[in-house]
Amino acid sequence: MSFFDIEAESYDAWYETPMGGFVDETETALAFRLFNPVPGSELLDAGCGTGNFSLKLAEKGVRVTGIDISEEMMSIAKRKTAEAGFCIDYRYGDLYELPFGDESFDAVFSMAAFEFIKEPEKAFDELMRVVKKGGILMIGTINGDSPWGELYSTKEFREKTVFKHADFKTMEQMGRICPEKLVDKGACLFMPPASPGKDFCWEVENSLSKKERGGYICLMWKK
Ligand SMILES: C[S@@+](CC[C@H](N)C(=O)[O-])C[C@H]1O[C@@H](n2cnc3c(N)ncnc32)[C@H](O)[C@@H]1O
Repeated sequence: MSFFDIEAESYDAWYETPMGGFVDETETALAFRLFNPVPGSELLDAGCGTGNFSLKLAEKGVRVTGIDISEEMMSIAKRKTAEAGFCIDYRYGDLYELPFGDESFDAVFSMAAFEFIKEPEKAFDELMRVVKKGGILMIGTINGDSPWGELYSTKEFREKTVFKHADFKTMEQMGRICPEKLVDKGACLFMPPASPGKDFCWEVENSLSKKERGGYICLMWKK
């Protein structure tokens, strides 16, 4: 039983709110600005959850394998994937010990899962192990050094939400993992979480991008 199992049924509701939908849009835009995988390539979505990112990758014509420790999250991913008419190989497994051989994938994406990883170097090494030489590892995570990371670290959030299991990282911390292979990085989600709903739009996101700390960061390494 994984701590995400009880979140599964309600997890996607966040993406269906105007705020959650825009947050997702900014994170997706950032990831694909850094790296847009080629159709036909083999990609692992590590910590795939309900398939939010796996489906976006499949829509790009990528051959996707998703892996997660929550069977309940993945059962929703499987249902959504079937409804959308895509074929994604979902596997149960742990980021610390992947059931794949060395250099199995052209690229590995891990979006919003590293928050829950207590030993980031160990998980990083394992994800990198399954990337082909010359391939890409992209990790996206909530920025601990941002109004979003600060909100999710409050006592209220720690007590009431899945973030009780989170350990937020900063850009500096993540950048210290294998700096010699780090090729690009970026941030998004510049409006603070308490902003009025009307501020969750590209105009405000772009206008704050030079002044504020981004709530979500993506880093990309090349093997
Ligand atoms: C916040 S969800 C993100 C899901 C999806 N990537 C997305 O962007 O919506 C985090 C996911 O990471 C998974 N996860 C956390 N720790 C993991 C681990 N050690 N191995 C595999 N999956 C893990 C959780 O089960 C959960 O489904």
